[in-house]
Amino acid sequence: MRSGADKEGCAATAARVAAAPVLAQNPVVIVGSGHSGVAVAAGLRTRGWDGGILLIDSENGLPYERPPLSKELLKDGAPDDPAVLRKEKFYADKGISRLAGASAESIDRDGRTVLLSDGTRQAYHRLVIATGSRARPLTVPGAGLPGVRSLRTRDDALELKRLLVPGTRVAIIGAGYIGLEVAAAAAAKACEVTVLEFQDRVMSRVTSAPVSRHFEQLHGQHGVRFVFGAAVTSIDGGERAERVTVADGTAFPADVVLAGIGVLPNQELAADAGLGCRDGILVDGDGRTSDPAIYASGDVTRFTSPFDGTSQRLECIQNALAQADRVAAHITGQAAAEPEIPWFWTVQHGVRLQTAGVRHPDDEVIVRGEPAGGRFSVVYLRDGRLAAVDTIANLAEFRTAKRLIAQGVRIDPVLAADPGIPLAEAISGTPSHDHAAADLAAARA
Ligand code: NAI
Repeated sequence: MRSGADKEGCAATAARVAAAPVLAQNPVVIVGSGHSGVAVAAGLRTRGWDGGILLIDSENGLPYERPPLSKELLKDGAPDDPAVLRKEKFYADKGISRLAGASAESIDRDGRTVLLSDGTRQAYHRLVIATGSRARPLTVPGAGLPGVRSLRTRDDALELKRLLVPGTRVAIIGAGYIGLEVAAAAAAKACEVTVLEFQDRVMSRVTSAPVSRHFEQLHGQHGVRFVFGAAVTSIDGGERAERVTVADGTAFPADVVLAGIGVLPNQELAADAGLGCRDGILVDGDGRTSDPAIYASGDVTRFTSPFDGTSQRLECIQNALAQADRVAAHITGQAAAEPEIPWFWTVQHGVRLQTAGVRHPDDEVIVRGEPAGGRFSVVYLRDGRLAAVDTIANLAEFRTAKRLIAQGVRIDPVLAADPGIPLAEAISGTPSHDHAAADLAAARA
């Protein structure tokens, strides 16, 4: 299929093309084989694209699932290989070429070619940048000592797994998703775990104080120790890291130090090519960058939320997949699925926190249920409308919440605070589908 949005043909046929692989005409070249890159490739074929598709990735091997890296993979006895996103046969059957262990160094936008790390050039008809994000590096003195780790790739996870043996003193910098999931895994392996967090509570970027408190207590029950307001000033040691020092001079002994202090978008390829970037590659609702022949998808992008009009960069698999579908739809000239409410999850000590929507710090916060009972929800209202919900060990309510958020319903805060009343029955007045539709239209205008 050739797209309506895609009439220009391949402008780059005269370029010097990489020796391997040889692609069908009008190649779509996808840089990055994480969840989003692979989903773009699969989505193009599902939508009937019959041109060439090339997936380039700097990591070797088959593209794999990332969520297990900070959870199951770290467990004793768990297989060292995370599940692959697609089996080898899938790529062969679908005519999707892969170039693993190679990175894209620069883009020649006029010639429509990508310079690869082996010095060859790959022509593209459409280019998709799905380069994801990398762990934010720790920059304090001593951050380069052996024993100081971050966690982003399969190799990072396997090295960490090797280091987490019973009795190991583990200092984790950052009480976000990575820090807390690794804290749970390390505690389960009888390590001594101390988490040093800059803010005054855990997961402050993504959730409210009641949920933070619940997870802090949960970790405490498993022996994890927290230090809040901790500004790390150095990591000290001889041949390896031995202790982490914070601003008031306190030193925490550590055999292993894990930095889980957030991520940075891998936007350099785009920025160097002159594409619009601002903490993420700027894309529209179809994943288009400021160059009509170049798209971007996944963690690396920044875009306007179709729900509330805010500029956002989402670090989640749901967005990686949804945006990939929009890119594949646009390249093939087809309609994309309706936007989906973003959602996130984490599992710590076996307790699942499932989040629908993106909370803002000034949202009204309503707790449904008793946290001490281990199963509760927190509802976030913005101007009276349901904006986001955290559910703890309550998957059914999560599903309801996702639907209600998409509908833009107004919620009665008193009814919502009563866990005996289903969330769907806490809607106040007429469901505001019309308002939501109007807001959506305004946000897209
Ligand atoms: P994060 O943004 O979730 O948490 C980073 C934490 O580090 C924050 O609490 C922040 O206040 C703290 N921090 C930042 N600088 C610090 C410093 N110098 N000293 C002490 N604390 C500091 O980022 P995290 O945990 O690194 O995760 C990165 C990404 O990995 C996530 O955004 C997500 O994309 C992915 N991820 C998602 C998971 C999930 O959805 N369950 C699980 C694991 C990773």
